[in-house]
Amino acid sequence: MQKTMSKFSQPEKVIYVCVGSKCGKRGSKEMCRELKHLIRDSGLKDTVGIVKTECTDRCKFAPVLSVQPANVWLKEYDERDAPRILRIATED
Ligand code: FES
Repeated sequence: MQKTMSKFSQPEKVIYVCVGSKCGKRGSKEMCRELKHLIRDSGLKDTVGIVKTECTDRCKFAPVLSVQPANVWLKEYDERDAPRILRIATED
């Protein structure tokens, strides 16, 4: 019997959001939620992905995230930065 495969997505851009303990306490989960809504509402679900990561060893600057492949890192953000982060992710 063959298993049904769920979609294995490979978005062009990925926002890696640290949801380690420190970042989690400082708003990274809210950021994930906000970005998810923005991405969906902008029709970018197949283009921009969100990957939650464990601690990236930058706790002093929590919360942190990175946008790849642009290799832009953001520190001490709050969820109001979500539109700007999405703009960075979709710039070429
Ligand atoms: S918990 Fe995010 S950098 Fe350590």
